This record gives sequence, C-alpha cells and structure tokens, in this order.
Amino acid sequence: MHSIAIDGPAGAGKSTIAKRVAKELGFIYVDTGAMYRSMALYFLRHGIPAQDEEKISEACNEITVSIEYENGEQQVILNGENVNGFIRTEEVSMMTSDTSKYPKVREKLLSLQRDLAKKKDVIMDGRDIGTCVLPDADLKIFLTASPAERARRRFKELQEKGEECDLDTIEKDIIARDEQDMNREISPLRPAEDASFVDASYMAIEEVVDTVVSMYRKA
Ligand code: DC
Repeated sequence: MHSIAIDGPAGAGKSTIAKRVAKELGFIYVDTGAMYRSMALYFLRHGIPAQDEEKISEACNEITVSIEYENGEQQVILNGENVNGFIRTEEVSMMTSDTSKYPKVREKLLSLQRDLAKKKDVIMDGRDIGTCVLPDADLKIFLTASPAERARRRFKELQEKGEECDLDTIEKDIIARDEQDMNREISPLRPAEDASFVDASYMAIEEVVDTVVSMYRKA
C-alpha cells in the first residue's frame, strides 16, 4: 500500500489539498481531525469539561468512532450517528484541541487510522501523521501558511456558510489552537525529520496540488 502524510497547523489548507491530490492519484482521503472532532462533540454533548481528564478518559470507553464514504466524502460515524454536520463549529474546534492532548483520546483513534492505511492507498492529514501514525509514509508534507492568511481563509469559509464571525477572534483562536497542539506532551504538531515543507501563503491551490503530486511521483 502507498501513503502520503500531510501535517500542519489549523487552516493551512490541508484538507483541500489532500482531497484534490487523492482524486488525482486515486487514493482515499482520510481526515483524522474529523475523528478527534467527533470525540470532542461527544464530550460537549455530555457536558464533560475539557479539563477533567479522568471523566474524559472514562467517556472514551463509551465511544465508537468509524468512518464511511458517501460520494467520495468521508463521513464520521459516532456511536452509529453520522455527525459530519456538527463537527465544524468554532466551539468544537477549540474543544478538539483541548481534548486531543489526552492519551486515552489518542489511543482510541490510532489503530483506526493505521488500519485504514493498511487496506488502501491513503493520503491522510492531521498533526502527527508523519511523526506517529504513518512513520513509513512514502511522502511526508508539512503544509504551512501565515496565521493571518489562515485566519482570512477560515473567515471566508464561515462567511460563505452564512455564519457570524469576526476575523480577529478567528486569528486568536487559530494561534491558541496551534500553541496547544504544538506544546502538548504526546504526538505534538511538529514536522517529521524527513518531511518536505510547503508554504502555501502565496500559492494557489492548484499550484500546491501539482507540487505535492509531482513530489509523490518522484518519491
Ligand atoms: O485538522 P482539524 O482542524 O480538523 O483538527 C482539529 C483538532 O484536532 C486540532 O486542533 C488538533 C487535533 N488533531 C490532532 O491532535 N491530531 C490529528 N492527527 C488531527 C487533529
């Protein structure tokens, strides 16, 4: 099986790029952030505070996460319910960053992610794909863009969805989330030693896609 790992901070465009590269190469796109988001949704719905590691760890035993594909789009199934429509809010984003630092939460998803890559050619995005989930990936990309650019993109996305939002708050949230994701003890966000850096700040989507596809073909 073949695999590509894409890691990087929030809003760098990982999922947009990974989806397009998957289409071009005939790979399956696996969005690992969506899996962590579904667990955060469970904790929010059950009123479990992010700081309460013991309760969060206990709740992990009540959670089953799986994924399915509908028209090529990944759907996250949380205890039998398709939760794709509920996991993209700012509240869930922050709760996900707050709770994905706990070992129990990460344990729950690691084998699911590795099993997917054993069965299919995958391009997987997240924070620890190149360093932890798929250390033997054929290609590892660390995709970045400036915080201002990442906030601007996220703002546009929310506006298009008709959600009320404020650019400064989004930029602050993105920076806070990155700080937390980079500084946690287990599987922090950091580039793998053998990762290639791609700075998407001044690149068009197509340009980034072509860069990744040609890097893969060379690798
Ligand atoms: O990629 P995303 O924005 O959907 O990820 C949401 C949060 O999930 C992110 O702040 C950190 C966490 N995450 C993680 O810890 N490990 C991953 N492989 C993917 C996401």
